[in-house]
Amino acid sequence: MTTLKCAVIGLGMGQSHIRGYQGHPDAEVVAIADLNEELLKSKGDEFGIPGRYTSVDEMFEKEKLDIVSIATPNSLHKPFALAALAHGAHVLCEKPMAMNAEEAQEMLDAAEKAGKRIMINFSFRFNDASWGIKDQVKGGRLGDVYTGRTRWLRRDGFPGFGGWFGTKKLSGGGPLIDLGVHRIDLALWLLDYPEPEWVLGRIHERIGQPRAKEVGKTFDVEDYASAMITFKNGMTLQVEASWAGHIQNKEDMETTLIGTKAGLCQRNVQGGYGFEGFIFSTENGCQLDVEMKGGSAPKSAQWHYVDSILNDKPHVATGAEGMTIMKILDGIYQSAEKGEPIKIG
Ligand SMILES: NC(=O)c1ccc[n+]([C@@H]2O[C@H](COP(=O)([O-])OP(=O)(O)OC[C@H]3O[C@@H](n4cnc5c(N)ncnc54)[C@H](O)[C@@H]3O)[C@@H](O)[C@H]2O)c1
Repeated sequence: MTTLKCAVIGLGMGQSHIRGYQGHPDAEVVAIADLNEELLKSKGDEFGIPGRYTSVDEMFEKEKLDIVSIATPNSLHKPFALAALAHGAHVLCEKPMAMNAEEAQEMLDAAEKAGKRIMINFSFRFNDASWGIKDQVKGGRLGDVYTGRTRWLRRDGFPGFGGWFGTKKLSGGGPLIDLGVHRIDLALWLLDYPEPEWVLGRIHERIGQPRAKEVGKTFDVEDYASAMITFKNGMTLQVEASWAGHIQNKEDMETTLIGTKAGLCQRNVQGGYGFEGFIFSTENGCQLDVEMKGGSAPKSAQWHYVDSILNDKPHVATGAEGMTIMKILDGIYQSAEKGEPIKIG
């Protein structure tokens, strides 16, 4: 069996990419890249990776790679993806795909030209609760889904002040592009990505910016966003994302979808990162709540990508889906800026 040679750029979230590849018997992480030399050495030693680079260009000169994971600040997703594709590698890019839809389109064009794949790490699909519900929805169990709500709210969970997450030119935005991206993707993936049409959005900068100002740090993104998305099939989806707000739990993630035959809910358990999934229906005059138990989710996004490439099968979380999400996010930010709905499809 062929072994795919993988590289990971960026060693924060990138560490989970390394673990994901190392969990597949036919993938080998041969190189890592990060500007932080200490991190490069410690993670290189911990994971036993021979190629270590502070320069991504040098990595591409010296290594022959099949897959490159990009887990850097969002502003570097596009340039590193274009470089990886030009090198002849498939790309697994962290979410959000890019800073905006225009950049995402450049990445899609480059992948097509190179004849290579792009996958986006919508990692919250890869748990049994999500995967189990998806299997149920595939069989038409919900009937015609006409509305839903998807959200990720934190009570007080800023990724720091003064760093790239809170600096718009490096991140593209705040919790909407950071957290909302996952929950919008989950809702759309469950429904096979219906085509969005209109977006009405609002963002608020009530908590983060004043707090950052007090400590003299940069923070020029929102701390809360809400939106209504309408779809060409008539469906509506409400969205909420925040890094801070006065709610009970530390962290609330929930996606509900309501159809003519049944509804569903995927949510985190007790404010943490474990998930549960339910289907709700009424049958023979009886209200049924069905809980997903166990499931068949792939071990990780990386495992799924390697498996799909080796077996020449389509992968999920495609660049085209990443692009649809970028159009929605652009629409929400534009709508918030202009104070009017934005047509995106
Ligand atoms: N899928 C998920 O659940 C998930 C979770 C966290 C973060 N992310 C995404 O992962 C990406 C990285 O986020 P993070 O939390 O790991 O950030 P981070 O700041 O912890 O790590 C980013 C790393 O990139 C390195 N880096 C920066 N510029 C570089 C360059 N020019 N060349 C090489 N390395 C460079 C930094 O030194 C740092 O180690 C973001 O796009 C974020 O949205 C996704």
